[in-house]
Amino acid sequence: MADGASDAEDPTQGMTRGLPNYGDSGFSLFLRKAFIKGAGYTDDALDRTVVGIVNTGSGFNPCHGNMPQLIEAVKRGVMLAGGLPVDFPTISLHESFSNPTSMYLRNLMSMDTEEMIKALPLDAVVLIGGCDKTVPAQLMGAASAGIPAIQLVTGSMLTGGHRGERVGACTDCRAFWGKYRGDEIDDQEISEVNSSLVGSVGTCSVMGTASTMAGIAEAMGIALPGSATPPAVTADRMRVAEQTGTRAVGIARERLTVDKILTESSFENALRVLLALGGSTNGIVHLAAVAGRLGFDLDLATFDQLSRETPVLVNLKPAGSHYMEDLHRAGGIPMLLDRLRDLVDLDALTITGRTLGEELADRDTSFTQEVVRPREDPIYPAGSIAVLRGNLAPSGAIVKQAAATPELLEHTGRAVVFENSADMAERIDDENLDVRADDVLVLKNIGPLGAPGMPEAGYIPIPKKLARQGVTDMVRISDGRMSGTARGTIVLHVSPESAVGGPLAYVRDGDTVRLSVADRVLSLEVPDDELATRREQQPVTPPETPARGYRKLFVDQVTQAEDGADFRFLQAEQKRASVPRAR
Ligand code: FES
Ligand code: MG
Repeated sequence: MADGASDAEDPTQGMTRGLPNYGDSGFSLFLRKAFIKGAGYTDDALDRTVVGIVNTGSGFNPCHGNMPQLIEAVKRGVMLAGGLPVDFPTISLHESFSNPTSMYLRNLMSMDTEEMIKALPLDAVVLIGGCDKTVPAQLMGAASAGIPAIQLVTGSMLTGGHRGERVGACTDCRAFWGKYRGDEIDDQEISEVNSSLVGSVGTCSVMGTASTMAGIAEAMGIALPGSATPPAVTADRMRVAEQTGTRAVGIARERLTVDKILTESSFENALRVLLALGGSTNGIVHLAAVAGRLGFDLDLATFDQLSRETPVLVNLKPAGSHYMEDLHRAGGIPMLLDRLRDLVDLDALTITGRTLGEELADRDTSFTQEVVRPREDPIYPAGSIAVLRGNLAPSGAIVKQAAATPELLEHTGRAVVFENSADMAERIDDENLDVRADDVLVLKNIGPLGAPGMPEAGYIPIPKKLARQGVTDMVRISDGRMSGTARGTIVLHVSPESAVGGPLAYVRDGDTVRLSVADRVLSLEVPDDELATRREQQPVTPPETPARGYRKLFVDQVTQAEDGADFRFLQAEQKRASVPRAR
């Protein structure tokens, strides 16, 4: 029983939890203590509530470059509350250092997280993540492990400066690269900007996937109120880390397990916030995966209803113009939630033990700021993401309408088809490619199974010869994902994917494709019998199952986008309900 525990009913077990089986539990504890005492611990230290801290620091992960300072601050918080903090490593994933794609490794990280949480003697765990796939992987793992857990994000990077202009990763990375491809800027300038885009350690400074998942984690109540937005290198970030450590001891003693926080209400709140943030399309896939771990099925049709009534209020790139540090100064996620009071469930329980409504009541949101817009003056009148259906996407597809070119949201055009990423790389810049600005670029085989790993290759570049003519956007369609930092009229997550024989597999050059976001339609204007003939003549053969290793597991087990591209055997055995709930 730890000093400082509030009562005699402290249910924490500390070092006695989950002993390895040597057939004699007394001996097992004796051995465990002998070993950890080798690190210099006293019996007093070991007789306390144990809070594990997941250390995802890595020299290959600059988004987590403040990990040592964060761990120190979390430990301080744990000790202030009378607990014993112990950090341990898991896999760390960075977007640019994860071949073939970080998404391929997300489920592996979730398994690592789940199994280490279950293996170690932890009364509660602080999950420190930040870069795109890490927070989803940690939430998936913790949801499956079922112990008290609290999320802490590493925080956003600072913006940099380029020739008098503020820049940040990675909406500006893409914009500058687009200019370079279009010969608008030269070698020297692109090299200069390369040194300025990432101003410090921390996660991407726009509303990409990392910022989206940070906002979602806070909105779901699994992270402390106000904890999503402090930049990585600030005192605010360190204070949040200390407070997270302190609260971790509380959730251990109260046995406030993940399933008590991540409920239907919290998923609905998360989806609302995803929409109002102008958040990353990847957020949907990740939320579907986390929900699936708890037995909830993400219902895309109901999500689309939420989208129709949830305006984009947060003015951050790529849908708007600001950066995460600006959102922080403007009051962060609590300011947004305050604007969405009538659209979120204020009775949802948060990790503080209080409801979302109680937490918001303590916040002053009356000051003037320019980043979180009032409801009557949104960045975009509807949600950032729309769900499409049609004969090209029977199980759904999505488009980030808030980051698209408005005129292209209703568009019918001729398909220019690429069979896979390699085919696209080979031909996209070919001067002889038969492509016009009003065509529709179609890329197959970048879905969960096809690539495999559903890479962010859905952001198909504008063919060089068109880019040079000043074309900056075209309708682009694929079964892959795109970075949350990207803009354009880009239809993603087409399901079923082409590699499993979805209709996308049968699109041919010259076919007519219709996109109508108003009607929520993605269709191939090819008669059914013609499609059936194509299917017969050229049936899709699923990719060969690799002989061994993680790749074999992945190919055997991965689900489609609407199920989160999680592994089948990791999803909850029992389906409980759909989220959002039917309305
Ligand atoms: Fe890590 Fe963008 S690369 S958050
Ligand atoms: Mg990203």
